[in-house]
Amino acid sequence: MRFYCGKDYDEMSRKAANLISAQVLTKPDSVLGLATGSSPIGTYKELIRRYEMGDLDFSSIRTVNLDEYKGLSGDHEQSYRYFMDTHFFDHVNIDKANTNVPNGLAEDTDGECARYDDLIASMGGIDLQLLGIGHNGHIGFNEPEDIFRKETHCVALAESTINANSRLFEKKEDVPRYAFTMGIKNIMMARKIVMVISGEDKADIVAKAFFGPVTPQVPASILQLHPDVSIVGDAAAFSKISL
Ligand code: GLP
Repeated sequence: MRFYCGKDYDEMSRKAANLISAQVLTKPDSVLGLATGSSPIGTYKELIRRYEMGDLDFSSIRTVNLDEYKGLSGDHEQSYRYFMDTHFFDHVNIDKANTNVPNGLAEDTDGECARYDDLIASMGGIDLQLLGIGHNGHIGFNEPEDIFRKETHCVALAESTINANSRLFEKKEDVPRYAFTMGIKNIMMARKIVMVISGEDKADIVAKAFFGPVTPQVPASILQLHPDVSIVGDAAAFSKISL
């Protein structure tokens, strides 16, 4: 596990973009696993900037996103498909047909989960998975529980996640209660993992997840066992650990 510390959000974002740029440059047809949330927005901005300067080419890149709210269509403003389009895909030369997000409107829940696992396998697995982390240690929408869920599944969101994500909805009641998410095995099978973490409110979970025991009660702790993880944080997020 390597730690990269940026002094603030912008520097953190540039460092994360460096790692993703290296992947795109050395393997132009990479499969990128992508994430939503406030943490990676700066990383996407920086990747767009580098594309606009002519330094990056996404024309052969394929992507698979971690998760999606159940019940939201891709054109709903709070859906993760909408997030990805507006924060990244619409601004670079990626072929949208090569971008994948779970279908929040799928009626056959198990069928959608199986389709997503098959899709990841058919792409040859994930070369680089970008992650954020929830305050309770969730990755994707893998919430704390007694076991690590291996594959794509539909999950009931923790109350703390609903509260945290309600800032983006008009009212808390509008936050979907369920979501599709890749499982821990899908994430751990990625050849490289890059996690972005920003802000003092994440400092406790950074210490717990990466310096505490590996447990499904802190889903991100499993990353301690992955052979190629880069944790990219700002000084505030790293304020409770000594590097
Ligand atoms: C959400 C997403 C996660 C994300 C996390 C943290 O619930 N499902 O993939 O990493 O919350 O988000 P943020 O970066 O906004 O703190």
